[in-house]
Amino acid sequence: MNVTSEKQYSSETPPRVTEALGQSEKFLDFQERLSRVAPVNRPVLLIGERGTGKELAAGRLHYLSNRWHRPFLTLNCSALSPSLIESELFGYEKGAFTGASQRRIGRFEAADGGTLFLDEIGNIPLEVQEKILRVVEYYAFERVGSPDSIDIDVRIIAATNADLKALAASNRFKLDLLDRLSFEVLIVPPLRERSEDILLLANYFAGRMAVELGWEEIPEFSPEAVKALEHYNWPGNIRELKNVVERAVYRSDSLKIGDIIFDPFRSPYQSQEPELPTDSPGTKGLSTDQIDPIDKSMKKAVWDLKIQMLESALAKSKFNQKKAAKILGLTYHQFRGLYRQYKEMKNEE
Ligand SMILES: Nc1ncnc2c1ncn2[C@@H]1O[C@H](COP(=O)(O)OP(=O)(O)OP(=O)(O)O)[C@@H](O)[C@H]1O
Ligand SMILES: [Mg+2]
Repeated sequence: MNVTSEKQYSSETPPRVTEALGQSEKFLDFQERLSRVAPVNRPVLLIGERGTGKELAAGRLHYLSNRWHRPFLTLNCSALSPSLIESELFGYEKGAFTGASQRRIGRFEAADGGTLFLDEIGNIPLEVQEKILRVVEYYAFERVGSPDSIDIDVRIIAATNADLKALAASNRFKLDLLDRLSFEVLIVPPLRERSEDILLLANYFAGRMAVELGWEEIPEFSPEAVKALEHYNWPGNIRELKNVVERAVYRSDSLKIGDIIFDPFRSPYQSQEPELPTDSPGTKGLSTDQIDPIDKSMKKAVWDLKIQMLESALAKSKFNQKKAAKILGLTYHQFRGLYRQYKEMKNEE
């Protein structure tokens, strides 16, 4: 009988464990909690925005546990359809469904003795959640198309960016599974909350990129670039920082990196002048070339005033963007919109 082996899921060489860098208090607290729970044989739930390092943290939880020499497998639940999630997790018997031409073991069986990382767990359908709950409670499951129960010893680490409590409240996530998985909940801090780490990480990624490009010296960021990196909000967190830095390094002609491009999609053909709101008096229903030149100069005057106020609020708040938004009487979201336009203008200069 052709049973898919554990090898199918694990690589020949052990995975490269990336060093998790950071020296901010929030990051160190997080790492401390992670190291403490790693050897405790219970599920852990990692919650964090995209690109914060959830997968990296899951790997560390495994390699710092007593299961480190056993398999560490991952299933990204957002990448698969509901029926595929079930057969990927639990495997299937020959003939279980059309196309099941041979028996195949699933991730749970392949991870026996080790750790299974369920990424984007909020996307798991309810029927499959029921089956996972049984594994967590009774260490047993059945392959799809088989009545036989298989005993298993797998530690589950789950990750999500979704609000699982809200999903549970609207019956889209099983509350009893959530209770079991949340033995320990680790919240990965977003990069904007650990701004002390931005430069450390930026220099690390820049150095690695330089080595990859075969440069003989390690590049440095100009003071303006440092300021730009430190003041950006990093919605895509560390993954975005890595991309931005690597792009800046490879594009640079010198070892002093000055040009930081946050948005690679920004078109050089777009007008840099900010648009007036479409419902502003006098412009309704008119195309740009129908607007009187006097309106255009007014537009520029309004823009200059906005910039003046923005710069003064940033100075007063010592570059704390939340405080600056408050000084200006803007919501943080409105402030970010204005700030982005401002940064683009500065980058153009
Ligand atoms: N503390 C850190 N030090 C160095 N690199 C890090 C750190 N945290 C994350 N990274 C790197 O940032 C990138 C994103 O990390 P990871 O894939 O673990 O994030 P994620 O939270 O799982 O993202 P997503 O939600 O998009 O799946 C990876 O290249 C990872 O190696
Ligand atoms: Mg991930």
